[in-house]
Amino acid sequence: MKQEWRLRNFHTLLSVERRRLRAVLRKLALHPAVRAAGLVFGAAFILIVGLAPLSSFLVEGWLRQDIELRSQLIVRSIKNQVVANLSESNPDLVPFLERITDDERLLAVGYCSDAGQMLYATSSMPHEVTCSAIAQAKGDAFDLVLKDGSRVHVSPTLLRTGATSGHLLVVHDLSFLDERTGKARLYTIFALLGASLAFGLLTIGVVGAVMRGWRQSLQSAIAQIQGETTHIRQANPSFPIGRDFYALLDALRTERTFAEGLYVEWSPSRLSELLRDELPGAQVIIVSNREPYIHNYVDGKPAVQIPASGLVAALEPVMRACGGVWIAHGSGSADRDTVDEHDRVAVPPDHPEYSLRRIWLSDEEQEGYYYGLSNEGLWPLCHIAFVRPNFRDADWRQYIAVNQRFAEVVLSEATADDPIILIQDYHFALLPRMVRKLLPKATIITFWHIPWPNSETFGICPWREEIIDGLLGSTILGFHTQFHCNNFIEAVDRFMESRIDREIGSVTLGGRETLIRPYPISIEWPPRALAGQASIEDCRRSVRERFGLPEDMRIAVGIERFDYTKGVIDRMKAVDTLLSLHPEWCGKFVLIQAAAPTRSKLAAYAELQSEAARLAEEINARYETSDWRPVHHVVRHHEQDEVYELFRAADMCIVSSLHDGMNLVAKEFVASRDDELGVLILSGLAGASRELSEALIVNPYDAGQMARAIDQALRMSQSEQRQRMRLMRDLVRRHNVYGWAAKMLLDASHLRERERVAHPGL
Ligand code: F6P
Repeated sequence: MKQEWRLRNFHTLLSVERRRLRAVLRKLALHPAVRAAGLVFGAAFILIVGLAPLSSFLVEGWLRQDIELRSQLIVRSIKNQVVANLSESNPDLVPFLERITDDERLLAVGYCSDAGQMLYATSSMPHEVTCSAIAQAKGDAFDLVLKDGSRVHVSPTLLRTGATSGHLLVVHDLSFLDERTGKARLYTIFALLGASLAFGLLTIGVVGAVMRGWRQSLQSAIAQIQGETTHIRQANPSFPIGRDFYALLDALRTERTFAEGLYVEWSPSRLSELLRDELPGAQVIIVSNREPYIHNYVDGKPAVQIPASGLVAALEPVMRACGGVWIAHGSGSADRDTVDEHDRVAVPPDHPEYSLRRIWLSDEEQEGYYYGLSNEGLWPLCHIAFVRPNFRDADWRQYIAVNQRFAEVVLSEATADDPIILIQDYHFALLPRMVRKLLPKATIITFWHIPWPNSETFGICPWREEIIDGLLGSTILGFHTQFHCNNFIEAVDRFMESRIDREIGSVTLGGRETLIRPYPISIEWPPRALAGQASIEDCRRSVRERFGLPEDMRIAVGIERFDYTKGVIDRMKAVDTLLSLHPEWCGKFVLIQAAAPTRSKLAAYAELQSEAARLAEEINARYETSDWRPVHHVVRHHEQDEVYELFRAADMCIVSSLHDGMNLVAKEFVASRDDELGVLILSGLAGASRELSEALIVNPYDAGQMARAIDQALRMSQSEQRQRMRLMRDLVRRHNVYGWAAKMLLDASHLRERERVAHPGL
């Protein structure tokens, strides 16, 4: 609940706030006042840089016009007097001119004759103003820089007096002009700066107001979260409060990473990290019929064997990563002699990481529970392989009894009242409800490794209601595909009184909800068995030598438990068809069929084994030559190392299941091919075909189609093989078994929190 609550709230909060922020920024960018302020602010800068010099230029121009006008006025007012005095050569002219220069800006007045003689000049006439300078300027006005650095403006006016003529000079001091233009520049800069400042402040005010609104809404959202956190804290004192916003964002980022698997390369360490963070201190208990390590006497000594089991291949690495207890039937001849007084043995034997708790079953129990109800009843019921299921009351009674025994062992192995219990497969349909009664607070994740049939088919089971009820004791019930989830929900709908929520995929029975979810199972990445493998070339050489095959022989492999659901017969028929349609492959192609005997006591399995042996012989007899036979049928258990060697030596792997929940052989083949070569031919009736779509997908019931697929695989270019294999390897790497377990554990952790909040007293 904690994580879910935080995820949901933060997702919502963040997306709302992100939208709001974007809207605010958009508004800010578009707001006319802000745009105008921005424009004016910018324009003011341009004006300061460009117009301040212009203003002094203009002022200077105006002042110069003024000086010219004043000069003309002065000339006009004294002209007659000067002319009269000149003609009379009157020396009183100078005092008259001196009086005129009382004006503060008018510096001096003088007269230059045409002969180049300064006939009259006021005492203030600068030495630098000479008649030769007037002649040089050709009678035009001009500026002059004096020795002391000051500037003067000289305005000459031509005067004619009878036969003579000369220039009346009016000299203005220009220092006031520099002072005025300087002031004008300064005022302009101040004015523009003031305007910029005003508009800047206006901009800041507008932006501030809008931002304040956004910040307030963000703060109220955080306050709301903290309020809810406090509320949750009351129900769950361990819930952390007082974290700041960024810490919560960090948590969100981690959770999103885990939940969506977007950036996560799932690995054992990542998985145990998740367990530690999301389910701190939780004990993990796995329950399965098949044990991960079997001790058998070989030559009088106990030897360890890893069974041929998809379940074991998937769960064992998970258990190594998580630690805990694995409870399973002890079926090996040396099993009893290798456990301690509590029937436990630490495994893996060479490097123990978890505890295997073995349960001993009598022959009678095995007959009824394992061979009877599980493998003659439920197995054919759930697989569409056209083998009739058998249901016997006596088997059912044993099934109940054995499930009950496992429930009691789960209770005895639990070190707390709320362990995480991972119940595996159709052998334990009743166990979830039984464990729920003994450990009400346990988180029970049940995984159904085989298909779930449609409700019409399932309806033929005499104990359909009990089986569904038993499974609904789980917190989460997982299948490989959504299709099987749907089938289960349909069966619940048809046979039980319950509440079904199809949108979220849950069923509520007796007030308790069970999530029904697809979790496509996978394998460890990289597979442990790959570590000690020789190069592809060496694997090919070794397999060719073992089977007496020449170097250029093309090899197809089929490897699995010898089960009628695996389509072994159909695969052989496809080889037969290939050789009849394409005789060019005779002598050039073999099928190595490795099958591990399983459930051999059951008639259907015994029949399959003899049928397969007979068919192999028949096909070989039809095509074989003195040094070649097309089918190499090897019936024995193969260790993982041998399986991987075969995969690596092969040109193709044929998985032709008639019906299969997932089929991990397909994924193992892909994982084994680090050379990115080899072709996978995969039944469309195996769950794996939903994910490995770059395989050649076939209908195993159609021998002709399978034969064509084999032919296509034999002719496929290496570049096409590589393209297909790369995509499949990428998928298996990304969706490995640690990710599979992580998704279930994350969902379990969310549900645990929700339970704690909903039932604080429990
Ligand atoms: O495929 C279903 C399954 O239960 C697997 O999970 C497991 O690999 C196999 O069948 C078990 O077979 P056995 O009966 O040999 O344990």
